[in-house]
Amino acid sequence: MKLIVGGSTGFVGDSTKLKSIIYDNFESYSNSVKRELEDTDACIWTIAVTPSKLKTVPFEDACEIFRDYAAIGIRALTDLYHDQDPPLHFIYISGHFVPRSPAEVPKELANSGLMNFGLMRGEAESRILAYAEHYKGSVQSYVAEPGLIEAPGRERQIIPELPNIDLREFVAALLDQVVNGLEKDTLLNNDMIRIKQRASGE
Ligand SMILES: NC(=O)c1ccc[n+]([C@@H]2O[C@H](COP(=O)([O-])OP(=O)(O)OC[C@H]3O[C@@H](n4cnc5c(N)ncnc54)[C@H](OP(=O)(O)O)[C@@H]3O)[C@@H](O)[C@H]2O)c1
Repeated sequence: MKLIVGGSTGFVGDSTKLKSIIYDNFESYSNSVKRELEDTDACIWTIAVTPSKLKTVPFEDACEIFRDYAAIGIRALTDLYHDQDPPLHFIYISGHFVPRSPAEVPKELANSGLMNFGLMRGEAESRILAYAEHYKGSVQSYVAEPGLIEAPGRERQIIPELPNIDLREFVAALLDQVVNGLEKDTLLNNDMIRIKQRASGE
């Protein structure tokens, strides 16, 4: 299986075992990058700004990084996936409080001044899911909504109403789903803990 991790230099994507493809234009991929991406079976998309640094990024830039690059990424990978059976799996990593409509905005998001950001991410989720719906058959897209991701050596934070998940549990659950098929289009924090426990026979 050929798996692409978009954002492999980041906290979630980090792995020294991956082959790195470095590119500097996420709006238009060069031919050499396209060759590397050809016939990818699955992609875990983590390109983003880590939650603790969110407020340092202008909203317009955040829209590009969180939403537009992912939309361009799924389109490019679908175009470059020739086999189509089984379909390409694209998992967009999002977050626990992300709403898909103004009616769903949780008070935690509104109170922290992140309502527009949350709605933009919800729009990104919807676009990614709608893309696969439109191209039924050649690509299946999914969203993962983890809570706070913890890792050894990282300062533990407690945010009311925000569940947490260990980084290794999170990654193990995602890999399980990529290899064995995804059970539903939106994986919540508890789903990923359960999937990891089932996969490791706990
Ligand atoms: N960390 C958490 O506790 C947590 C919790 C819930 C959800 N999440 C979600 O998990 C996802 C990944 O978060 P993370 O903590 O791993 O983020 P991160 O450590 O900041 O990693 C982000 C990745 O995106 C890349 N990136 C950022 N800006 C870019 C740009 N303008 N152009 C191209 N690449 C760019 C970074 O590349 P460079 O290294 O080159 O900058 C890096 O590879 C996000 O969607 C986040 O919301 C994280």
